[in-house]
Amino acid sequence: MASESPFRLDGRSVAVIGAGSGIGEGAAEACARQGARVACFDVNLIAARATADRIAAAGGEAEAAELNILDPDAMGSALASLDDLRGVVATPGVNVRKRLLDYQPDEFDRVVTLNLRGAMCVLQVAGRLFTEAGGGSIVLLSSIRSQVTEPGQGVYAATKAGIVQLARTAAAEFGRKGVRVNALAPGVVDTPLTKPIQQNEAWNSAYAGKTALGRWGRSDEIGNAAAFLVSDASSYMTGAVLFVDGGWTAIDGRFDPPA
Ligand SMILES: NC(=O)c1ccc[n+]([C@@H]2O[C@H](COP(=O)([O-])OP(=O)(O)OC[C@H]3O[C@@H](n4cnc5c(N)ncnc54)[C@H](O)[C@@H]3O)[C@@H](O)[C@H]2O)c1
Repeated sequence: MASESPFRLDGRSVAVIGAGSGIGEGAAEACARQGARVACFDVNLIAARATADRIAAAGGEAEAAELNILDPDAMGSALASLDDLRGVVATPGVNVRKRLLDYQPDEFDRVVTLNLRGAMCVLQVAGRLFTEAGGGSIVLLSSIRSQVTEPGQGVYAATKAGIVQLARTAAAEFGRKGVRVNALAPGVVDTPLTKPIQQNEAWNSAYAGKTALGRWGRSDEIGNAAAFLVSDASSYMTGAVLFVDGGWTAIDGRFDPPA
Protein backbone atom coordinates (compact mmCIF):
# COMPACT_ATOMS: atom_id res chain seq x y z
CA MET A 1 0.00 0.00 0.00
CA ALA A 2 1.37 3.45 -0.93
CA SER A 3 2.34 5.38 2.18
CA GLU A 4 1.79 8.91 0.86
CA SER A 5 -1.81 10.02 1.34
CA PRO A 6 -3.26 11.97 -1.62
CA PHE A 7 -4.78 14.33 0.94
CA ARG A 8 -1.31 15.50 2.05
CA LEU A 9 0.16 18.78 0.80
CA ASP A 10 3.71 18.41 2.11
CA GLY A 11 6.32 20.55 0.37
CA ARG A 12 3.70 22.51 -1.61
CA SER A 13 2.63 26.11 -1.29
CA VAL A 14 -1.04 27.03 -1.06
CA ALA A 15 -2.23 30.64 -1.19
CA VAL A 16 -5.38 31.55 0.69
CA ILE A 17 -6.83 34.95 -0.15
CA GLY A 18 -9.15 36.04 2.66
CA ALA A 19 -7.15 34.06 5.23
CA GLY A 20 -7.71 36.62 7.97
CA SER A 21 -11.19 35.47 8.94
CA GLY A 22 -13.85 32.79 8.83
CA ILE A 23 -13.70 30.25 6.03
CA GLY A 24 -10.37 31.56 4.68
CA GLU A 25 -8.84 31.15 8.11
CA GLY A 26 -10.31 27.62 8.27
CA ALA A 27 -8.91 26.82 4.82
CA ALA A 28 -5.44 28.13 5.70
CA GLU A 29 -5.35 26.05 8.88
CA ALA A 30 -6.66 22.94 7.12
CA CYS A 31 -4.02 23.17 4.36
CA ALA A 32 -1.30 23.68 6.98
CA ARG A 33 -2.52 20.58 8.86
CA GLN A 34 -1.96 18.65 5.61
CA GLY A 35 1.63 19.89 5.49
CA ALA A 36 1.36 22.84 3.07
CA ARG A 37 3.34 26.05 3.33
CA VAL A 38 0.47 28.49 3.49
CA ALA A 39 0.59 32.06 2.23
CA CYS A 40 -2.10 33.92 4.17
CA PHE A 41 -3.28 36.90 2.12
CA ASP A 42 -5.90 39.40 3.20
CA VAL A 43 -6.71 43.07 2.76
CA ASN A 44 -6.49 43.11 6.58
CA LEU A 45 -2.81 42.40 7.26
CA ILE A 46 -3.24 42.19 11.03
CA ALA A 47 -5.87 39.48 10.64
CA ALA A 48 -3.75 37.57 8.08
CA ARG A 49 -0.77 37.72 10.46
CA ALA A 50 -2.89 36.39 13.31
CA THR A 51 -3.87 33.35 11.19
CA ALA A 52 -0.25 32.75 10.13
CA ASP A 53 0.88 33.06 13.77
CA ARG A 54 -1.74 30.51 14.90
CA ILE A 55 -0.58 28.09 12.22
CA ALA A 56 3.06 28.54 13.24
CA ALA A 57 2.15 28.09 16.93
CA ALA A 58 0.51 24.77 16.02
CA GLY A 59 3.73 23.63 14.27
CA GLY A 60 2.74 24.52 10.71
CA GLU A 61 4.41 26.72 8.10
CA ALA A 62 2.80 30.03 7.14
CA GLU A 63 3.55 33.57 6.07
CA ALA A 64 1.26 36.59 5.83
CA ALA A 65 0.99 39.53 3.46
CA GLU A 66 -1.47 42.25 2.59
CA LEU A 67 -3.31 41.70 -0.69
CA ASN A 68 -6.44 43.17 -2.21
CA ILE A 69 -8.22 40.53 -4.31
CA LEU A 70 -9.26 43.32 -6.70
CA ASP A 71 -5.62 44.20 -7.54
CA PRO A 72 -4.49 41.73 -10.23
CA ASP A 73 -0.95 43.16 -10.56
CA ALA A 74 -0.25 42.80 -6.85
CA MET A 75 -1.81 39.32 -6.90
CA GLY A 76 0.37 38.30 -9.83
CA SER A 77 3.57 39.32 -8.03
CA ALA A 78 2.47 37.79 -4.74
CA LEU A 79 1.57 34.42 -6.26
CA ALA A 80 4.63 34.31 -8.55
CA SER A 81 6.91 34.72 -5.53
CA LEU A 82 5.73 31.47 -3.90
CA ASP A 83 7.72 28.23 -4.33
CA ASP A 84 5.90 25.26 -5.85
CA LEU A 85 2.47 26.90 -5.67
CA ARG A 86 -0.19 24.22 -6.24
CA GLY A 87 -3.37 25.76 -4.95
CA VAL A 88 -5.21 29.06 -4.59
CA VAL A 89 -8.28 29.36 -2.38
CA ALA A 90 -10.15 32.68 -2.60
CA THR A 91 -12.82 33.54 -0.03
CA PRO A 92 -13.49 37.31 0.10
CA GLY A 93 -17.17 38.06 -0.33
CA VAL A 94 -19.76 40.52 0.89
CA ASN A 95 -23.53 40.50 1.27
CA VAL A 96 -25.89 43.45 1.51
CA ARG A 97 -29.16 41.88 2.64
CA LYS A 98 -31.89 44.02 1.17
CA ARG A 99 -35.02 43.40 -0.84
CA LEU A 100 -34.73 44.09 -4.54
CA LEU A 101 -37.02 47.13 -4.47
CA ASP A 102 -34.79 48.76 -1.83
CA TYR A 103 -31.39 48.00 -3.40
CA GLN A 104 -29.24 51.03 -4.19
CA PRO A 105 -26.85 51.12 -7.18
CA ASP A 106 -23.78 51.58 -4.94
CA GLU A 107 -24.78 48.52 -2.88
CA PHE A 108 -25.24 46.46 -6.04
CA ASP A 109 -21.82 47.59 -7.28
CA ARG A 110 -20.13 46.76 -3.96
CA VAL A 111 -21.47 43.20 -3.85
CA VAL A 112 -20.91 42.47 -7.54
CA THR A 113 -17.42 44.00 -7.52
CA LEU A 114 -16.00 42.07 -4.60
CA ASN A 115 -17.81 38.78 -5.25
CA LEU A 116 -17.63 38.55 -9.04
CA ARG A 117 -14.74 40.77 -10.09
CA GLY A 118 -12.69 39.32 -7.19
CA ALA A 119 -13.35 35.80 -8.48
CA MET A 120 -12.54 36.91 -12.02
CA CYS A 121 -9.20 38.42 -10.90
CA VAL A 122 -8.27 35.13 -9.22
CA LEU A 123 -9.19 33.12 -12.30
CA GLN A 124 -7.17 35.37 -14.58
CA VAL A 125 -4.08 35.69 -12.39
CA ALA A 126 -3.90 32.15 -10.96
CA GLY A 127 -5.24 30.73 -14.23
CA ARG A 128 -2.39 32.28 -16.21
CA LEU A 129 0.22 31.17 -13.69
CA PHE A 130 -1.08 27.61 -13.42
CA THR A 131 -1.70 27.06 -17.15
CA GLU A 132 1.89 28.19 -17.83
CA ALA A 133 3.19 25.90 -15.06
CA GLY A 134 1.09 22.96 -16.34
CA GLY A 135 -0.98 22.39 -13.22
CA GLY A 136 -2.69 23.73 -10.13
CA SER A 137 -6.02 23.88 -8.35
CA ILE A 138 -8.22 26.95 -7.88
CA VAL A 139 -11.03 26.99 -5.33
CA LEU A 140 -13.66 29.75 -5.41
CA LEU A 141 -16.30 30.35 -2.76
CA SER A 142 -19.87 30.02 -3.95
CA SER A 143 -22.77 29.28 -1.56
CA ILE A 144 -26.05 27.40 -1.23
CA ARG A 145 -27.42 30.74 -2.45
CA SER A 146 -26.22 29.79 -5.95
CA GLN A 147 -29.14 27.30 -5.92
CA VAL A 148 -31.72 28.42 -3.37
CA THR A 149 -32.56 31.93 -2.32
CA GLU A 150 -34.85 33.86 0.01
CA PRO A 151 -36.03 37.48 0.34
CA GLY A 152 -33.13 39.90 0.69
CA GLN A 153 -30.54 37.65 -0.98
CA GLY A 154 -31.08 38.51 -4.66
CA VAL A 155 -27.85 40.26 -5.57
CA TYR A 156 -25.66 38.04 -3.37
CA ALA A 157 -27.34 34.91 -4.78
CA ALA A 158 -26.79 36.16 -8.33
CA THR A 159 -23.06 36.62 -7.67
CA LYS A 160 -22.77 33.18 -6.09
CA ALA A 161 -24.50 31.59 -9.12
CA GLY A 162 -22.20 33.65 -11.34
CA ILE A 163 -19.15 32.27 -9.52
CA VAL A 164 -20.33 28.74 -10.34
CA GLN A 165 -20.50 29.54 -14.05
CA LEU A 166 -17.12 31.31 -13.98
CA ALA A 167 -15.59 28.25 -12.27
CA ARG A 168 -17.17 25.88 -14.79
CA THR A 169 -15.97 27.96 -17.73
CA ALA A 170 -12.47 28.17 -16.26
CA ALA A 171 -12.51 24.38 -15.79
CA ALA A 172 -13.35 24.03 -19.49
CA GLU A 173 -10.69 26.52 -20.60
CA PHE A 174 -7.84 25.37 -18.32
CA GLY A 175 -8.47 21.61 -18.04
CA ARG A 176 -6.19 20.50 -20.88
CA LYS A 177 -3.34 22.33 -19.16
CA GLY A 178 -3.86 20.26 -16.01
CA VAL A 179 -5.51 23.06 -14.07
CA ARG A 180 -8.59 22.25 -11.97
CA VAL A 181 -11.17 24.82 -10.89
CA ASN A 182 -13.96 24.06 -8.42
CA ALA A 183 -16.51 26.00 -6.41
CA LEU A 184 -17.16 25.32 -2.76
CA ALA A 185 -20.75 25.96 -1.69
CA PRO A 186 -21.15 26.23 2.06
CA GLY A 187 -24.42 26.41 3.93
CA VAL A 188 -24.69 28.62 6.99
CA VAL A 189 -21.34 28.89 8.71
CA ASP A 190 -20.46 30.58 11.99
CA THR A 191 -18.12 33.43 10.91
CA PRO A 192 -17.96 37.22 11.37
CA LEU A 193 -19.94 37.55 8.09
CA THR A 194 -22.97 35.84 9.64
CA LYS A 195 -22.71 37.32 13.17
CA PRO A 196 -25.73 39.62 12.66
CA ILE A 197 -27.91 36.56 11.91
CA GLN A 198 -26.62 34.58 14.84
CA GLN A 199 -27.47 37.46 17.17
CA ASN A 200 -31.15 37.15 16.17
CA GLU A 201 -32.38 34.06 18.08
CA ALA A 202 -35.34 33.26 15.79
CA TRP A 203 -33.24 33.64 12.64
CA ASN A 204 -30.33 31.71 14.14
CA SER A 205 -32.44 28.69 15.12
CA ALA A 206 -34.49 28.73 11.91
CA TYR A 207 -31.29 28.42 9.88
CA ALA A 208 -29.95 25.62 12.11
CA GLY A 209 -33.31 23.83 11.82
CA LYS A 210 -33.31 24.00 8.01
CA THR A 211 -30.28 21.71 7.84
CA ALA A 212 -30.42 17.92 8.12
CA LEU A 213 -27.81 18.05 10.88
CA GLY A 214 -29.76 20.66 12.87
CA ARG A 215 -26.85 23.04 13.32
CA TRP A 216 -24.67 25.71 11.75
CA GLY A 217 -21.35 24.73 10.17
CA ARG A 218 -17.92 25.68 11.45
CA SER A 219 -15.22 27.34 9.38
CA ASP A 220 -12.86 24.38 9.92
CA GLU A 221 -15.48 22.08 8.33
CA ILE A 222 -15.47 24.21 5.18
CA GLY A 223 -11.69 24.62 5.38
CA ASN A 224 -11.22 20.84 5.31
CA ALA A 225 -13.21 20.67 2.07
CA ALA A 226 -11.03 23.44 0.57
CA ALA A 227 -7.87 21.50 1.49
CA PHE A 228 -9.39 18.40 -0.18
CA LEU A 229 -10.09 20.37 -3.38
CA VAL A 230 -6.51 21.67 -3.43
CA SER A 231 -5.03 18.19 -2.87
CA ASP A 232 -4.49 15.24 -5.22
CA ALA A 233 -7.34 13.46 -3.42
CA SER A 234 -9.66 15.45 -5.71
CA SER A 235 -7.50 14.98 -8.83
CA TYR A 236 -10.49 14.00 -11.05
CA MET A 237 -12.72 16.84 -9.86
CA THR A 238 -13.01 19.98 -11.92
CA GLY A 239 -15.92 22.26 -12.76
CA ALA A 240 -17.70 20.85 -9.71
CA VAL A 241 -19.77 22.56 -7.06
CA LEU A 242 -19.11 20.91 -3.71
CA PHE A 243 -21.92 21.56 -1.24
CA VAL A 244 -20.80 21.53 2.38
CA ASP A 245 -24.12 22.55 3.87
CA GLY A 246 -25.21 20.08 6.55
CA GLY A 247 -27.87 18.84 4.11
CA TRP A 248 -29.49 22.26 3.51
CA THR A 249 -29.94 21.74 -0.24
CA ALA A 250 -30.81 18.02 0.08
CA ILE A 251 -34.01 18.37 2.06
CA ASP A 252 -36.98 20.34 0.92
CA GLY A 253 -38.67 21.99 3.87
CA ARG A 254 -38.99 22.89 7.48
CA PHE A 255 -41.74 20.35 8.28
CA ASP A 256 -41.14 16.82 9.58
CA PRO A 257 -44.30 14.89 8.63
CA PRO A 258 -45.63 12.34 11.16
CA ALA A 259 -45.36 9.46 8.67
N1 LIG B 1 -20.25 32.37 6.41
C1 LIG B 1 -21.19 31.75 5.72
O1 LIG B 1 -22.23 31.31 6.26
C2 LIG B 1 -21.03 31.55 4.23
C3 LIG B 1 -21.92 30.70 3.58
C4 LIG B 1 -21.79 30.50 2.21
C5 LIG B 1 -20.78 31.12 1.52
N2 LIG B 1 -19.92 31.94 2.17
C6 LIG B 1 -18.90 32.60 1.38
O2 LIG B 1 -17.63 32.26 1.90
C7 LIG B 1 -16.73 33.35 1.73
C8 LIG B 1 -16.07 33.67 3.05
O3 LIG B 1 -17.05 34.02 4.00
P1 LIG B 1 -16.67 34.26 5.52
O4 LIG B 1 -17.91 34.03 6.28
O5 LIG B 1 -15.42 33.52 5.84
O6 LIG B 1 -16.37 35.86 5.48
P2 LIG B 1 -15.52 36.76 6.48
O7 LIG B 1 -16.11 38.12 6.36
O8 LIG B 1 -15.44 36.13 7.84
O9 LIG B 1 -14.04 36.74 5.86
C9 LIG B 1 -13.74 37.37 4.65
C10 LIG B 1 -12.26 37.75 4.66
O10 LIG B 1 -11.98 38.37 3.39
C11 LIG B 1 -11.20 39.54 3.61
N3 LIG B 1 -11.41 40.48 2.51
C12 LIG B 1 -12.49 41.30 2.30
N4 LIG B 1 -12.30 42.04 1.21
C13 LIG B 1 -11.08 41.69 0.70
C14 LIG B 1 -10.33 42.11 -0.42
N5 LIG B 1 -10.78 43.08 -1.25
N6 LIG B 1 -9.14 41.53 -0.66
C15 LIG B 1 -8.65 40.58 0.18
N7 LIG B 1 -9.31 40.15 1.28
C16 LIG B 1 -10.52 40.71 1.52
C17 LIG B 1 -11.69 40.08 4.94
O11 LIG B 1 -10.75 40.96 5.52
C18 LIG B 1 -11.90 38.79 5.73
O12 LIG B 1 -10.71 38.41 6.40
C19 LIG B 1 -17.55 34.49 1.14
O13 LIG B 1 -17.34 34.53 -0.26
C20 LIG B 1 -18.97 34.11 1.46
O14 LIG B 1 -19.88 34.63 0.51
C21 LIG B 1 -20.02 32.17 3.51
